[in-house]
Amino acid sequence: MTDTASPASYPTHPALVCYPAPVLRRKAEPVTVFDEDLRAFCARMFAVMEAEKGVGLAAPQVGVSRRIFVTDHARKKDGEKPDPRVWVNPVIESPEGVTTYEEGCLSFPAIYAKVKRHDRFTIRWLDEYGRERSERLDVGAGQFLGIVVQHELDHLDGIVFIDHLTPVQLGLCRRRLRDLEADYRKATGKTGSPIRR
Ligand code: CO
Repeated sequence: MTDTASPASYPTHPALVCYPAPVLRRKAEPVTVFDEDLRAFCARMFAVMEAEKGVGLAAPQVGVSRRIFVTDHARKKDGEKPDPRVWVNPVIESPEGVTTYEEGCLSFPAIYAKVKRHDRFTIRWLDEYGRERSERLDVGAGQFLGIVVQHELDHLDGIVFIDHLTPVQLGLCRRRLRDLEADYRKATGKTGSPIRR
C-alpha cells in the first residue's frame, strides 16, 4: 500500500536548537514517507552535525519532531573510517547489562555528565530508503556507537541526557542550565521548557 499522506515539510536550513526549547521535550512522530525530501533533510542534518563537531544529531535538535537521527561515531577517533548512518523509526530490543559513559549533547553546550545506559542491545531501524536494518551492539566490547544511539533515541521520546542524572550530578550542572535558560529567554522572549527537578 502506498502512503498517500503528504510528506513532512522539512526545513531547508535546519539550525541547532538548545535547551530549554520545548521541541526537545516532544515525543517525535514516526516517518512514513521515504522520499528525496527525507534524504535531502538527512544530508542537511549531517552538515549541521559536522559543523557542530557532534557524533550524533536527532531531528528534534533541529526543530523537527520526527523519529530520525544521524550518527558518525567514528569522527571522534583519529584514523577511524567515517561511518555516517541514518536511523529512522528506531526501536531497542533485548537490552542486557549496564554501562556508564561521560556524555555531552549539542543542545546542552558545555555540560558533560556520566550516564547509565544498557551495555548490550539489539536495535532495529529503517534507513533513508525505508529498508529494514537490525544490529546487536555491545558497548563493553568497544562499540561506542551503542552509547550514541541510546542517547539519540532518547531525543525522539523527548528525553535528554540530563534526565538520567542523580540529584547530586544535576546540582553540579545547575548553574550552566540556568545560563542556557537565560540565553533562551533573551533570544525568544519565552521561558521554554526548563527542567523541573
Ligand atoms: Co543530545
